Amino acid sequence: MSEGIDAKQILADHVFDARVLAMSTPTIFREAIDKGLEGIVACTTRISSIQGNTLTYRGYAIEDLAENSNFEETIWLLWNDRLPTAAELEGFRKELFAASRLEPEVKELMKTLQQAANSKTHPMDYLRTVVSTLSLRDPEVADNSEAALRRKSLRLTAQISSIVGAYERVRKGQPLVEPVEGKGLAWNLLWQMFGKEPTADHVKIMDTALILHADHEINCSAFSARVTASSLSDLHSAVVSAIGTLKGPLHGGANEAVIKMLKEIGTIDKAKTYVEQALEGKQKVMGIGHRVYKNGDPRAKILRKISERITKEAGQPELYEMSVLIDDTMLEKKGLMPNVDFYSASVYHCMGLPHDLFTPLFAASRIAGWCAHVIEQLAANRIYRPRGEYAGRTDLVWKPIASR
Ligand code: COA
Repeated sequence: MSEGIDAKQILADHVFDARVLAMSTPTIFREAIDKGLEGIVACTTRISSIQGNTLTYRGYAIEDLAENSNFEETIWLLWNDRLPTAAELEGFRKELFAASRLEPEVKELMKTLQQAANSKTHPMDYLRTVVSTLSLRDPEVADNSEAALRRKSLRLTAQISSIVGAYERVRKGQPLVEPVEGKGLAWNLLWQMFGKEPTADHVKIMDTALILHADHEINCSAFSARVTASSLSDLHSAVVSAIGTLKGPLHGGANEAVIKMLKEIGTIDKAKTYVEQALEGKQKVMGIGHRVYKNGDPRAKILRKISERITKEAGQPELYEMSVLIDDTMLEKKGLMPNVDFYSASVYHCMGLPHDLFTPLFAASRIAGWCAHVIEQLAANRIYRPRGEYAGRTDLVWKPIASR
């Protein structure tokens, strides 16, 4: 040890500091141990709000938007704090379309990455990696001015949609198809995925689902995007953080987990027992429960209606019936209600969408919210740096390896 440094004294001071801090600012430590930051207000936001079981985007109820708006208009609303005029919307659609064409280098890269992937690679891992590589090609990657953030948001939103669609064909070794001018993001997403014109009904359902998933206050992935942005990193990094966060089954990954669960249950006569056994075993029933909504998620109500209809039309009404039984049983046994991921699973399944693309589809929508959050965060930035309640020791003194 260097002369003049008293390690014991430093440690004693350190212990003293931590105790004094804990005593003098007890609220910091009390809040920090609310696990999962439950109920903590982390920032001010004007993008979307959850009050009771009412969800609004920029003041408009989600039911109103799902019924009357479209995804492009909703994105514009989230980014501009008002609805667009007809001319603004038309211009925005054109810009989105122009940005939605994947450059030849990106298509090549997608094929190469697919070859490098193994059979266990999840499409969310693939999406996260492709989006990260987009930053290498974006001339404005390091520009955090609001104007550049908006341009990058537009490019990322259009491109993620195309990447999710194109991925399905890349992995099947099928030729990629170009997005079609004059069609919206929902139409083009399905077109790029299947290479055939989607039905008007499927386009409407996809569009509604994209609206419903576009933002959700300070959810886990939006928070993650804001945290990354708050260090004055860049939008691509924030979106990559958010994609990684969305992947988890407690967040966006729940929609894929729901369809797996429904398939595992198999038939309606086994559904109730499945739920009872899951609860007995302290297992989560996927797509059920929510940190904020305690009286039901309004998005789930909208999707439930669509599920009821589309499962019948697809000749799979038992998927809906099984979902309702699970929903009822969870309410009866635990007082918990479905979230957005519960009924979307049967809806997407009946649209013929591959199960492992359910969460990437969530990302193709939520990118709108992530970008809005990064823009909002950087407009009044302060780095996120919470405290941890230290529960370890502080009195240890290093020993040479021979004497441990
Ligand atoms: N299945 C079974 N029990 C559940 C449950 C579920 N889906 N969701 C919550 N619970 C139970 C918990 O076990 C806990 O019970 P206990 O008090 O008897 O221990 C209680 O409800 C509180 O749950 P908790 O996990 O603390 O709630 P949370 O606010 O931390 O979590 C979710 C919210 C969404 C993460 C949680 O409900 C969940 O994991 N749901 C399933 C995954 C999912 O659908 N995620 C998508 C969210 S949009």
